[in-house]
Amino acid sequence: MISPKTIEIVKSITPAVAANAEVITRRFYQLMFEGNPEVGVYFNPAHQHSGGQQRALAGAICAYFANIDNPEVLGPAVNLIAHKHCSLGIQPEQYPIVGKHLLAAIKDVMGPAATAEIIDAVVEAYGFLAEVCIQRERKIYQQQRDVVGGWNGFRRFVVERKVRECGIIASFYLRPADGGELPDFEPGQYITVRIEHPHAPTSPRNYSLSDRPGAGHYRITVKREPRPGPEAPDGVVSNYLHDVVQVGDELEIGPPCGEFTLAPEATGGRPIVLLAGGIGVTPLLSMAKSLVHRSTATPVHFIHAARNSQVQALADEIRALRTHGGIATHVIYDDPLNGDLEERKCDSVGRVSAEFLRSRTPYREASYFFCGPKPFMQFVYGRLKELGVDDDRLHFEFFGPHQEITTVAAAAF
Ligand SMILES: Cc1cc2nc3c(=O)[nH]c(=O)nc-3n(C[C@H](O)[C@H](O)[C@H](O)COP(=O)(O)OP(=O)(O)OC[C@H]3O[C@@H](n4cnc5c(N)ncnc54)[C@H](O)[C@@H]3O)c2cc1C
Ligand code: HEM
Repeated sequence: MISPKTIEIVKSITPAVAANAEVITRRFYQLMFEGNPEVGVYFNPAHQHSGGQQRALAGAICAYFANIDNPEVLGPAVNLIAHKHCSLGIQPEQYPIVGKHLLAAIKDVMGPAATAEIIDAVVEAYGFLAEVCIQRERKIYQQQRDVVGGWNGFRRFVVERKVRECGIIASFYLRPADGGELPDFEPGQYITVRIEHPHAPTSPRNYSLSDRPGAGHYRITVKREPRPGPEAPDGVVSNYLHDVVQVGDELEIGPPCGEFTLAPEATGGRPIVLLAGGIGVTPLLSMAKSLVHRSTATPVHFIHAARNSQVQALADEIRALRTHGGIATHVIYDDPLNGDLEERKCDSVGRVSAEFLRSRTPYREASYFFCGPKPFMQFVYGRLKELGVDDDRLHFEFFGPHQEITTVAAAAF
């Protein structure tokens, strides 16, 4: 339990910390990478460069401080963080390292306002949160070990098939190199890929499993990440997978993780709407295929928004959800090629607007699961809120550090 005095002090400094949260987390990462460079191997430099990781940590700290007297409400947030940590192999003994640099960053940014009393309170509050995370992670590691065929850390998998889905997306079918069992997973979960890049050593990356559990392989479907400008590097791991990794090669894989799943508390026995933007189709297709395989009686809607047929992956499998699986599918392109609509490659042209969602999905009762680029997710979230869908019926996955979704829809989308 956190002492009442600490609760009171943390509450009193929450506005100041919130106002400076990203400055604190930016300073924190600087100090940590200087003081303990050995933990750098876990962190994706692109997430530092974009500021996404600093924002995610700042958001988590602010949410914790704001709920210091009621930390149970942070259960889902802790679960998300714990799964991410377990996907990367984070260990309890690393928590004091983070604690030390976080405290130093707070002292640096707050200056003399960080009195000894405040520092003591922050130490106690951090220790409590660290313990909550460590306990949750211990359970996840245990589950990973205990499941049939399970493992902790990284295991070698052979690339059994590599399929070019479209110009920029390829699928990799993976089987354990040791010939052992392949553990089941929850549709929606991701695995972790660690590569040894010859010129650009980097942290492992997460990839959602795009096929259903029990298919006899793990499949990931990877979009080639281009450089955003002439000065920027190409995406390290996606380009390596596309250009270098071939059938018969081995990859190091971390066990399935993630809490973006069709758990009963998420679906709530309601109709299910799966809404994918671009490569965000991967966890949602796994969910849809698994629902078909289980012959679910629940009404399921599957919507894939993409630019056009040239960059839409897995179109045949989406079509099969309708023809063989009884799922109501809809493919919508916002920048169709000549003939895309006429040749029935898509069902309509435009965006997933409020009107679209009102007319095509049971928005008064359904549970929504969505995934895609950040602007797509913010846009969809905004439209669903416009239709009055409560947050407890909205579930989503970011392909990067968790971000604020309530921001007004980006004009770029
Ligand atoms: C839960 C989860 C599931 C995911 N599932 C999938 C999936 O199913 N399919 C999929 O394709 N992806 C998925 N991703 C995304 C994936 O993990 C990678 O982030 C993605 O493949 C890009 O990785 P990369 O190594 O190629 O690019 P990175 O090297 O991480 O770079 C990312 C981008 O940042 C830019 N960049 C990097 N450094 C700089 C710099 N210094 N200056 C300017 N720009 C820079 C790069 O040019 C690139 O555009 C998922 C992510 C998560 C978290
Ligand atoms: C109580 C302490 C901690 C908190 C509150 C915390 C919080 C977070 C949050 C919010 C994320 C982003 C999750 C997401 O949305 O993807 C994250 C990711 C991560 N955390 Fe922690 N964390 C803590 C401790 C640690 C420790 C001890 C380590 C070990 C070095 C660690 C390493 C990482 C790494 C490597 C990532 C992924 C970064 C990336 O994508 O580049 N964290 N953490």
